[in-house]
Amino acid sequence: SKLKLWGGRFTGKTDPLMQMYNESLSYDKRMYAQDIRGSQAYARATCKAGILTTEERDTIISGLEKVREEWASNTFVIHPEIDEDIHTANERRLGEIIGTHIAGKLHTGRSRNDQVATDMRLWLRDELEEIEGYLIEFLRATVERAEEQIDALLPGYTHVQRAQPIRWSHWLMSHAFMFLSDLERLRELKKRVNKSPLGCGALAGNPFNLDREFLAKELGFDGCIQNSLIGVADRDFVVETLQWSTLMMNHVSRWSEDLIIYSTAEFGFVTLADAYSTGSSLMPQKKNSDSLELLRGKSGRVFGQMAGFLYTVKGLPSSYNKDLQEDKEPLFDCVTTVQNSLQIATGVVATLTIYPEKMKAALTMDMLATDLADYLVRKGVPFRETHHISGACVREAEKRKLSGIDQLGLEVLQSIDERFGEDVLEVFDFERSVELRSSTGGTCKASVIKQIEELTKVLQRA
Ligand code: ARG
Repeated sequence: SKLKLWGGRFTGKTDPLMQMYNESLSYDKRMYAQDIRGSQAYARATCKAGILTTEERDTIISGLEKVREEWASNTFVIHPEIDEDIHTANERRLGEIIGTHIAGKLHTGRSRNDQVATDMRLWLRDELEEIEGYLIEFLRATVERAEEQIDALLPGYTHVQRAQPIRWSHWLMSHAFMFLSDLERLRELKKRVNKSPLGCGALAGNPFNLDREFLAKELGFDGCIQNSLIGVADRDFVVETLQWSTLMMNHVSRWSEDLIIYSTAEFGFVTLADAYSTGSSLMPQKKNSDSLELLRGKSGRVFGQMAGFLYTVKGLPSSYNKDLQEDKEPLFDCVTTVQNSLQIATGVVATLTIYPEKMKAALTMDMLATDLADYLVRKGVPFRETHHISGACVREAEKRKLSGIDQLGLEVLQSIDERFGEDVLEVFDFERSVELRSSTGGTCKASVIKQIEELTKVLQRA
Protein backbone atom coordinates (compact mmCIF):
# COMPACT_ATOMS: atom_id res chain seq x y z
CA SER A 1 0.00 0.00 0.00
CA LYS A 2 1.42 3.34 -1.08
CA LEU A 3 -0.01 5.12 1.96
CA LYS A 4 1.86 7.83 3.74
CA LEU A 5 2.80 6.85 7.26
CA TRP A 6 0.54 9.53 8.64
CA GLY A 7 -2.05 9.28 5.87
CA GLY A 8 -5.04 8.11 7.95
CA ARG A 9 -6.80 11.43 8.41
CA PHE A 10 -5.95 12.81 4.98
CA THR A 11 -8.00 12.79 1.81
CA GLY A 12 -6.30 15.58 -0.18
CA LYS A 13 -3.02 15.12 -1.99
CA THR A 14 0.23 16.82 -1.08
CA ASP A 15 1.29 19.59 -3.44
CA PRO A 16 4.29 18.35 -5.47
CA LEU A 17 6.53 21.22 -4.48
CA MET A 18 5.44 20.79 -0.86
CA GLN A 19 6.44 17.14 -1.17
CA MET A 20 9.95 18.19 -2.15
CA TYR A 21 10.05 21.01 0.34
CA ASN A 22 9.09 18.69 3.18
CA GLU A 23 11.33 15.73 2.48
CA SER A 24 14.57 15.21 4.36
CA LEU A 25 15.51 11.72 3.15
CA SER A 26 17.94 13.10 0.58
CA TYR A 27 20.19 14.16 3.45
CA ASP A 28 19.04 12.34 6.58
CA LYS A 29 19.69 8.96 4.93
CA ARG A 30 23.20 9.65 6.16
CA MET A 31 21.89 8.46 9.54
CA TYR A 32 20.39 5.19 8.29
CA ALA A 33 22.59 3.03 10.51
CA GLN A 34 21.78 5.07 13.62
CA ASP A 35 18.08 4.96 12.80
CA ILE A 36 18.20 1.19 12.53
CA ARG A 37 20.26 0.78 15.65
CA GLY A 38 17.80 2.94 17.58
CA SER A 39 14.85 0.92 16.28
CA GLN A 40 16.47 -2.38 17.21
CA ALA A 41 17.05 -1.16 20.75
CA TYR A 42 13.49 0.15 20.82
CA ALA A 43 12.20 -3.30 19.83
CA ARG A 44 14.08 -4.81 22.76
CA ALA A 45 12.65 -2.25 25.15
CA THR A 46 9.07 -2.61 23.94
CA CYS A 47 9.43 -6.40 24.23
CA LYS A 48 10.58 -5.90 27.80
CA ALA A 49 7.49 -3.75 28.35
CA GLY A 50 5.28 -6.57 27.02
CA ILE A 51 4.24 -4.91 23.74
CA LEU A 52 6.18 -7.33 21.53
CA THR A 53 6.63 -11.07 22.00
CA THR A 54 10.24 -12.24 21.88
CA GLU A 55 9.50 -13.72 18.45
CA GLU A 56 8.12 -10.47 17.13
CA ARG A 57 11.12 -8.65 18.58
CA ASP A 58 13.57 -10.97 16.86
CA THR A 59 11.70 -10.75 13.56
CA ILE A 60 11.87 -6.97 13.72
CA ILE A 61 15.55 -6.96 14.64
CA SER A 62 16.57 -9.28 11.82
CA GLY A 63 14.27 -7.49 9.37
CA LEU A 64 15.96 -4.21 10.25
CA GLU A 65 19.29 -5.93 9.71
CA LYS A 66 18.21 -6.61 6.11
CA VAL A 67 17.23 -2.97 5.66
CA ARG A 68 20.65 -1.97 6.91
CA GLU A 69 22.32 -4.28 4.40
CA GLU A 70 20.31 -2.71 1.59
CA TRP A 71 21.53 0.76 2.53
CA ALA A 72 25.09 -0.48 2.95
CA SER A 73 25.11 -2.19 -0.45
CA ASN A 74 23.36 0.73 -2.13
CA THR A 75 20.35 -1.39 -3.10
CA PHE A 76 17.73 0.36 -0.96
CA VAL A 77 15.01 1.53 -3.31
CA ILE A 78 13.59 4.88 -2.33
CA HIS A 79 9.90 5.60 -2.95
CA PRO A 80 9.95 9.39 -3.12
CA GLU A 81 6.16 9.79 -2.85
CA ILE A 82 5.99 8.12 0.57
CA ASP A 83 9.53 8.03 1.93
CA GLU A 84 9.54 11.41 3.62
CA ASP A 85 12.59 10.89 5.78
CA ILE A 86 14.91 8.13 6.95
CA HIS A 87 12.47 7.06 9.67
CA THR A 88 9.51 6.56 7.36
CA ALA A 89 11.68 4.95 4.69
CA ASN A 90 13.12 2.36 7.04
CA GLU A 91 9.75 1.51 8.55
CA ARG A 92 8.12 1.21 5.13
CA ARG A 93 10.84 -1.15 3.97
CA LEU A 94 10.72 -3.18 7.20
CA GLY A 95 6.99 -3.72 6.61
CA GLU A 96 7.68 -5.02 3.11
CA ILE A 97 10.28 -7.44 4.40
CA ILE A 98 8.59 -8.86 7.52
CA GLY A 99 4.96 -7.87 6.91
CA THR A 100 3.16 -4.83 8.21
CA HIS A 101 1.39 -6.76 10.97
CA ILE A 102 4.58 -7.12 13.00
CA ALA A 103 6.44 -4.12 11.58
CA GLY A 104 3.44 -1.97 12.52
CA LYS A 105 4.06 -2.66 16.20
CA LEU A 106 7.56 -1.22 16.28
CA HIS A 107 6.55 2.43 16.52
CA THR A 108 4.29 1.87 19.58
CA GLY A 109 4.68 4.81 21.93
CA ARG A 110 7.44 6.24 19.81
CA SER A 111 7.31 9.38 17.69
CA ARG A 112 9.64 10.56 14.99
CA ASN A 113 10.25 13.39 17.40
CA ASP A 114 12.15 11.29 19.93
CA GLN A 115 13.42 9.05 17.12
CA VAL A 116 15.10 11.83 15.15
CA ALA A 117 16.64 13.37 18.26
CA THR A 118 18.06 9.94 19.11
CA ASP A 119 19.45 9.40 15.61
CA MET A 120 21.09 12.79 15.60
CA ARG A 121 22.77 12.25 18.94
CA LEU A 122 23.97 8.77 17.99
CA TRP A 123 25.32 10.08 14.72
CA LEU A 124 26.99 13.13 16.20
CA ARG A 125 28.54 11.13 19.03
CA ASP A 126 30.59 9.07 16.56
CA GLU A 127 31.51 12.06 14.45
CA LEU A 128 32.74 14.01 17.47
CA GLU A 129 34.86 11.03 18.43
CA GLU A 130 36.42 11.20 14.99
CA ILE A 131 36.95 14.95 15.27
CA GLU A 132 38.65 14.46 18.62
CA GLY A 133 41.03 11.99 16.99
CA TYR A 134 41.90 14.47 14.21
CA LEU A 135 42.43 17.25 16.70
CA ILE A 136 44.82 15.09 18.70
CA GLU A 137 46.71 14.18 15.52
CA PHE A 138 47.06 17.85 14.65
CA LEU A 139 48.39 18.59 18.13
CA ARG A 140 50.82 15.68 17.92
CA ALA A 141 52.16 16.87 14.57
CA THR A 142 52.56 20.40 15.94
CA VAL A 143 54.39 19.25 19.05
CA GLU A 144 56.70 17.09 16.93
CA ARG A 145 57.66 20.08 14.77
CA ALA A 146 58.15 22.26 17.85
CA GLU A 147 60.55 19.71 19.30
CA GLU A 148 62.53 19.20 16.13
CA GLN A 149 62.66 22.91 15.19
CA ILE A 150 63.30 24.32 18.65
CA ASP A 151 66.45 26.23 17.64
CA ALA A 152 64.98 28.39 14.91
CA LEU A 153 64.46 32.06 15.84
CA LEU A 154 62.28 34.49 13.95
CA PRO A 155 60.76 37.92 14.48
CA GLY A 156 57.72 37.97 16.71
CA TYR A 157 55.20 40.55 15.53
CA THR A 158 52.64 42.86 17.00
CA HIS A 159 50.51 44.76 14.49
CA VAL A 160 52.48 42.72 11.91
CA GLN A 161 55.45 44.98 12.77
CA ARG A 162 58.68 43.41 13.94
CA ALA A 163 58.56 43.41 17.74
CA GLN A 164 60.88 40.99 19.57
CA PRO A 165 62.75 37.83 18.60
CA ILE A 166 61.04 34.55 19.51
CA ARG A 167 61.49 30.88 18.84
CA TRP A 168 59.61 29.39 15.89
CA SER A 169 58.59 26.59 18.24
CA HIS A 170 57.10 29.22 20.56
CA TRP A 171 54.89 30.32 17.70
CA LEU A 172 53.90 26.71 16.99
CA MET A 173 53.06 26.09 20.61
CA SER A 174 51.03 29.29 20.93
CA HIS A 175 48.58 27.84 18.46
CA ALA A 176 48.76 24.41 20.02
CA PHE A 177 47.47 25.80 23.30
CA MET A 178 44.46 27.37 21.59
CA PHE A 179 43.66 23.99 20.10
CA LEU A 180 44.19 22.34 23.45
CA SER A 181 41.37 24.48 24.84
CA ASP A 182 39.27 23.30 21.91
CA LEU A 183 40.01 19.73 22.90
CA GLU A 184 38.89 20.39 26.47
CA ARG A 185 35.71 22.09 25.28
CA LEU A 186 35.01 19.24 22.89
CA ARG A 187 35.19 16.71 25.71
CA GLU A 188 32.65 18.76 27.68
CA LEU A 189 30.36 18.96 24.69
CA LYS A 190 30.52 15.20 24.10
CA LYS A 191 29.03 14.60 27.53
CA ARG A 192 25.98 16.68 26.72
CA VAL A 193 25.49 15.05 23.32
CA ASN A 194 25.50 11.55 24.75
CA LYS A 195 22.12 11.60 26.54
CA SER A 196 19.11 9.60 25.42
CA PRO A 197 15.87 11.25 24.31
CA LEU A 198 14.38 7.91 23.24
CA GLY A 199 11.12 7.12 25.02
CA CYS A 200 10.06 10.75 25.29
CA GLY A 201 7.40 10.02 22.64
CA ALA A 202 5.94 12.91 20.69
CA LEU A 203 6.26 15.25 23.68
CA ALA A 204 4.56 13.89 26.80
CA GLY A 205 6.45 10.70 27.58
CA ASN A 206 5.81 6.97 27.19
CA PRO A 207 2.60 5.37 28.43
CA PHE A 208 3.72 1.70 28.27
CA ASN A 209 6.06 1.66 31.25
CA LEU A 210 9.03 1.64 28.91
CA ASP A 211 12.38 1.23 30.64
CA ARG A 212 14.19 4.27 29.28
CA GLU A 213 17.29 3.60 31.33
CA PHE A 214 17.58 0.15 29.76
CA LEU A 215 17.12 1.72 26.34
CA ALA A 216 19.79 4.33 27.03
CA LYS A 217 22.22 1.64 28.12
CA GLU A 218 21.49 -0.47 25.04
CA LEU A 219 22.45 2.50 22.89
CA GLY A 220 25.55 3.42 24.87
CA PHE A 221 24.14 6.70 26.18
CA ASP A 222 25.21 8.09 29.55
CA GLY A 223 21.69 8.29 30.92
CA CYS A 224 18.38 9.79 29.83
CA ILE A 225 17.17 13.30 29.20
CA GLN A 226 15.00 13.93 32.25
CA ASN A 227 12.10 15.81 30.70
CA SER A 228 10.18 14.59 27.67
CA LEU A 229 9.26 18.07 26.38
CA ILE A 230 12.88 19.08 26.17
CA GLY A 231 13.90 15.60 25.01
CA VAL A 232 12.19 16.24 21.68
CA ALA A 233 12.83 20.00 21.52
CA ASP A 234 16.44 20.29 22.54
CA ARG A 235 18.88 21.08 19.76
CA ASP A 236 21.39 22.76 22.03
CA PHE A 237 23.71 19.89 21.26
CA VAL A 238 23.58 20.94 17.60
CA VAL A 239 24.03 24.63 18.42
CA GLU A 240 26.89 23.83 20.75
CA THR A 241 28.63 21.70 18.14
CA LEU A 242 28.29 24.54 15.62
CA GLN A 243 29.59 27.03 18.18
CA TRP A 244 32.45 24.78 19.14
CA SER A 245 33.32 24.42 15.48
CA THR A 246 33.12 28.16 14.93
CA LEU A 247 35.71 28.87 17.60
CA MET A 248 37.92 25.97 16.57
CA MET A 249 37.80 27.03 12.91
CA ASN A 250 38.58 30.57 14.00
CA HIS A 251 41.81 29.18 15.45
CA VAL A 252 42.46 27.31 12.22
CA SER A 253 41.90 30.54 10.32
CA ARG A 254 44.29 32.64 12.39
CA TRP A 255 46.94 29.93 12.22
CA SER A 256 46.50 29.82 8.45
CA GLU A 257 46.77 33.57 8.14
CA ASP A 258 50.17 33.60 9.86
CA LEU A 259 51.43 30.85 7.59
CA ILE A 260 50.09 32.59 4.48
CA ILE A 261 52.11 35.66 5.43
CA TYR A 262 55.19 33.63 6.32
CA SER A 263 55.06 31.79 2.99
CA THR A 264 55.17 34.95 0.85
CA ALA A 265 58.48 35.69 -0.91
CA GLU A 266 58.70 38.88 1.15
CA PHE A 267 58.91 36.83 4.34
CA GLY A 268 60.17 33.53 2.96
CA PHE A 269 60.07 31.77 6.32
CA VAL A 270 58.20 28.68 5.15
CA THR A 271 57.06 26.88 2.05
CA LEU A 272 54.17 24.50 1.76
CA ALA A 273 54.64 21.04 0.35
CA ASP A 274 53.39 20.60 -3.20
CA ALA A 275 50.74 18.29 -1.77
CA TYR A 276 49.02 21.29 -0.16
CA SER A 277 49.61 23.93 -2.83
CA THR A 278 48.16 24.64 -6.24
CA GLY A 279 49.29 26.55 -9.28
CA SER A 280 47.96 29.29 -11.48
CA SER A 281 46.25 28.66 -14.82
CA LEU A 282 47.91 31.76 -16.22
CA MET A 283 51.18 32.42 -14.39
CA PRO A 284 53.54 29.47 -14.69
CA GLN A 285 55.75 30.48 -11.78
CA LYS A 286 52.98 30.54 -9.20
CA LYS A 287 52.71 28.25 -6.20
CA ASN A 288 49.77 29.29 -4.10
CA SER A 289 48.96 28.35 -0.51
CA ASP A 290 45.44 27.28 -1.41
CA SER A 291 45.14 24.85 1.46
CA LEU A 292 45.68 27.65 3.96
CA GLU A 293 43.36 30.01 2.14
CA LEU A 294 40.62 27.39 2.13
CA LEU A 295 41.16 26.72 5.82
CA ARG A 296 40.77 30.44 6.43
CA GLY A 297 37.81 30.67 4.07
CA LYS A 298 35.90 27.69 5.37
CA SER A 299 35.86 29.13 8.86
CA GLY A 300 33.41 31.70 7.51
CA ARG A 301 31.16 28.97 6.22
CA VAL A 302 31.02 27.30 9.63
CA PHE A 303 30.34 30.61 11.32
CA GLY A 304 27.41 31.14 8.95
CA GLN A 305 25.96 27.72 9.71
CA MET A 306 26.15 28.45 13.42
CA ALA A 307 24.48 31.83 13.07
CA GLY A 308 21.85 30.49 10.69
CA PHE A 309 20.75 27.63 12.89
CA LEU A 310 20.74 29.77 16.00
CA TYR A 311 18.25 32.03 14.23
CA THR A 312 16.17 28.97 13.33
CA VAL A 313 15.74 27.83 16.94
CA LYS A 314 15.35 31.27 18.43
CA GLY A 315 11.79 31.83 19.60
CA LEU A 316 10.47 28.33 18.77
CA PRO A 317 7.54 27.24 20.90
CA SER A 318 7.95 24.27 23.25
CA SER A 319 8.58 20.68 22.12
CA TYR A 320 8.93 19.63 18.48
CA ASN A 321 8.39 21.96 15.54
CA LYS A 322 9.26 21.13 11.96
CA ASP A 323 11.74 24.00 11.91
CA LEU A 324 14.02 21.58 13.74
CA GLN A 325 14.44 19.55 10.56
CA GLU A 326 16.68 22.43 9.49
CA ASP A 327 19.30 21.26 11.99
CA LYS A 328 20.71 18.58 9.72
CA GLU A 329 22.20 20.25 6.69
CA PRO A 330 24.25 22.82 8.63
CA LEU A 331 25.38 20.22 11.14
CA PHE A 332 26.35 17.63 8.52
CA ASP A 333 28.20 20.18 6.45
CA CYS A 334 29.92 21.65 9.47
CA VAL A 335 31.09 18.24 10.70
CA THR A 336 32.51 17.36 7.28
CA THR A 337 34.22 20.74 7.00
CA VAL A 338 35.77 20.42 10.46
CA GLN A 339 36.95 16.85 9.86
CA ASN A 340 38.54 17.73 6.53
CA SER A 341 40.04 20.97 7.79
CA LEU A 342 41.78 19.33 10.72
CA GLN A 343 43.26 16.66 8.49
CA ILE A 344 44.46 19.24 5.96
CA ALA A 345 45.98 21.38 8.71
CA THR A 346 47.80 18.33 10.07
CA GLY A 347 49.18 17.57 6.62
CA VAL A 348 50.29 21.17 6.16
CA VAL A 349 52.19 21.37 9.43
CA ALA A 350 53.71 17.89 9.09
CA THR A 351 55.12 18.65 5.63
CA LEU A 352 55.96 22.33 6.02
CA THR A 353 59.53 23.34 5.14
CA ILE A 354 60.97 26.08 7.30
CA TYR A 355 63.95 28.31 6.47
CA PRO A 356 65.73 29.13 9.75
CA GLU A 357 68.35 31.22 7.91
CA LYS A 358 65.71 33.48 6.40
CA MET A 359 63.93 33.74 9.71
CA LYS A 360 67.19 34.81 11.31
CA ALA A 361 67.95 37.26 8.52
CA ALA A 362 64.65 38.98 9.23
CA LEU A 363 65.72 39.77 12.78
CA THR A 364 66.87 43.37 13.14
CA MET A 365 68.79 45.06 15.92
CA ASP A 366 65.99 47.51 16.68
CA MET A 367 64.07 44.48 17.95
CA LEU A 368 66.53 44.53 20.86
CA ALA A 369 65.67 48.11 21.89
CA THR A 370 63.64 46.72 24.80
CA ASP A 371 66.65 44.65 25.85
CA LEU A 372 68.78 47.80 25.75
CA ALA A 373 66.29 49.52 28.06
CA ASP A 374 66.24 46.43 30.30
CA TYR A 375 70.04 46.60 30.53
CA LEU A 376 69.78 49.91 32.39
CA VAL A 377 66.84 48.60 34.44
CA ARG A 378 69.23 45.97 35.77
CA LYS A 379 71.53 48.86 36.83
CA GLY A 380 68.69 50.33 38.89
CA VAL A 381 67.33 52.93 36.42
CA PRO A 382 63.50 53.17 36.34
CA PHE A 383 62.03 51.57 33.21
CA ARG A 384 60.13 54.71 32.14
CA GLU A 385 63.48 56.48 31.99
CA THR A 386 65.33 53.63 30.25
CA HIS A 387 62.57 53.47 27.62
CA HIS A 388 63.41 57.06 26.66
CA ILE A 389 67.14 56.45 26.69
CA SER A 390 66.83 53.39 24.46
CA GLY A 391 64.48 55.38 22.21
CA ALA A 392 67.14 58.07 21.91
CA CYS A 393 69.63 55.38 20.83
CA VAL A 394 67.25 54.17 18.12
CA ARG A 395 66.77 57.76 16.95
CA GLU A 396 70.52 58.38 16.92
CA ALA A 397 71.20 55.24 14.88
CA GLU A 398 68.54 56.32 12.42
CA LYS A 399 70.00 59.82 12.22
CA ARG A 400 73.45 58.39 11.47
CA LYS A 401 71.91 56.03 8.91
CA LEU A 402 73.39 53.03 10.70
CA SER A 403 72.05 49.53 10.16
CA GLY A 404 71.14 49.25 13.84
CA ILE A 405 71.67 50.36 17.43
CA ASP A 406 74.54 47.88 17.79
CA GLN A 407 76.55 50.02 15.32
CA LEU A 408 76.52 53.11 17.53
CA GLY A 409 79.52 51.93 19.49
CA LEU A 410 80.22 52.28 23.18
CA GLU A 411 81.32 55.90 23.01
CA VAL A 412 78.15 57.16 21.39
CA LEU A 413 76.02 55.02 23.71
CA GLN A 414 77.84 56.50 26.70
CA SER A 415 77.36 59.99 25.32
CA ILE A 416 73.63 59.31 25.34
CA ASP A 417 73.76 57.88 28.87
CA GLU A 418 76.90 57.48 30.91
CA ARG A 419 75.50 54.50 32.78
CA PHE A 420 76.11 52.29 29.73
CA GLY A 421 79.11 50.09 30.58
CA GLU A 422 81.30 47.95 28.34
CA ASP A 423 79.06 44.93 28.94
CA VAL A 424 76.24 46.72 27.05
CA LEU A 425 77.54 45.17 23.83
CA GLU A 426 76.35 41.76 25.10
CA VAL A 427 72.79 43.05 24.67
CA PHE A 428 73.04 42.90 20.87
CA ASP A 429 72.50 39.18 20.66
CA PHE A 430 69.16 37.69 19.58
CA GLU A 431 69.75 34.36 21.28
CA ARG A 432 70.46 36.15 24.55
CA SER A 433 67.26 38.14 24.26
CA VAL A 434 65.24 34.99 23.69
CA GLU A 435 66.92 33.11 26.53
CA LEU A 436 66.25 35.94 28.98
CA ARG A 437 62.51 35.30 28.59
CA SER A 438 62.69 32.44 31.04
CA SER A 439 59.61 32.91 33.21
CA THR A 440 56.76 30.48 32.67
CA GLY A 441 55.33 30.90 29.18
CA GLY A 442 58.36 32.77 27.84
CA THR A 443 60.17 32.02 24.63
CA CYS A 444 63.46 30.72 26.12
CA LYS A 445 64.38 27.17 25.22
CA ALA A 446 63.68 25.66 28.64
CA SER A 447 60.28 27.31 28.78
CA VAL A 448 59.28 26.08 25.32
CA ILE A 449 60.44 22.60 26.27
CA LYS A 450 58.24 22.86 29.34
CA GLN A 451 55.31 23.85 27.13
CA ILE A 452 56.00 20.86 24.92
CA GLU A 453 56.12 18.58 27.94
CA GLU A 454 52.85 19.96 29.30
CA LEU A 455 51.06 19.28 26.06
CA THR A 456 52.70 15.91 25.56
CA LYS A 457 51.37 14.85 28.96
CA VAL A 458 47.81 15.68 27.91
CA LEU A 459 48.27 13.91 24.58
CA GLN A 460 49.61 10.79 26.25
CA ARG A 461 46.38 10.59 28.24
CA ALA A 462 44.41 10.88 25.01
N1 ARG B 1 12.32 14.52 9.33
C1 ARG B 1 11.94 15.06 10.61
C2 ARG B 1 13.11 15.87 11.17
O1 ARG B 1 14.15 15.73 10.67
C3 ARG B 1 11.59 13.97 11.56
C4 ARG B 1 10.64 14.35 12.62
C5 ARG B 1 9.31 14.66 12.05
N2 ARG B 1 8.32 14.71 13.04
C6 ARG B 1 7.14 15.23 12.80
N3 ARG B 1 6.29 15.20 13.73
N4 ARG B 1 6.85 15.74 11.66
O2 ARG B 1 12.97 16.63 12.10
